[in-house]
Amino acid sequence: MKIYGHRGAAGLVAENTIESILEALNNNVKGVEIDVHCCKSGELVVIHDETLERTTNGTGLVSEYTLQELKQITTIEGYKIPTLQEVLEVIDGRCELNVELKGIHTALPTLKLLEEQILKTNWEYKHFIISSFDHSQLFELKEHTSKFKIGVLTEENISKVLPVAHDLEAFSIHPPISTLTQQAVDKAKTQGYRVYVWTVNTKTLMEQSKSWNVDAIITDFPNFV
Ligand code: G3P
Ligand code: MG
Repeated sequence: MKIYGHRGAAGLVAENTIESILEALNNNVKGVEIDVHCCKSGELVVIHDETLERTTNGTGLVSEYTLQELKQITTIEGYKIPTLQEVLEVIDGRCELNVELKGIHTALPTLKLLEEQILKTNWEYKHFIISSFDHSQLFELKEHTSKFKIGVLTEENISKVLPVAHDLEAFSIHPPISTLTQQAVDKAKTQGYRVYVWTVNTKTLMEQSKSWNVDAIITDFPNFV
């Protein structure tokens, strides 16, 4: 079972920051999950919410700020909001990366940036899984390339997304731990999908996930493993 740090290592250091990602790496994760939005000047930035209030000292929509303006804002803990480019540079292929497309129209800029990095750095296609709750973004991605692994994110039971996973030729299904059963894991795996479950934050749930033979857990606490 692979261990992925959620939003870096969100339970240990401020989520979706370079510092959190480095903490995940320090805990020997196999991969990291991060969330991306597009800002007003077009760059992809790594932040979970579409608004700034919960995690930063800013206010309003991420999409209404240029990158230069976002760089004046810090997280509540005093860290910078990183760009996807900065995250790629820091990790440089040292672990896998699950890029979760959050904001609208993030699929194609993400695709372009990842492909540029693959050409000139240690990153390879195999390192990436691109996921989203917004399945239309995954279809947009698939229209342009089949080189990236696609992860179908859902808030619901795995069964609900099996048809869309089929149409997307997805690599993996990413359900919440609250909906997961042994039967659901078996069904997905029988149909050829990996199961990447989130957000698995207790040792008990980690052990249960392992006993169900899930392929990966995404956790805020990679130090628990
Ligand atoms: O990708 C798994 C998980 O991150 C999905 O939910 O809201 O934490 O982005 P959320
Ligand atoms: Mg996420």
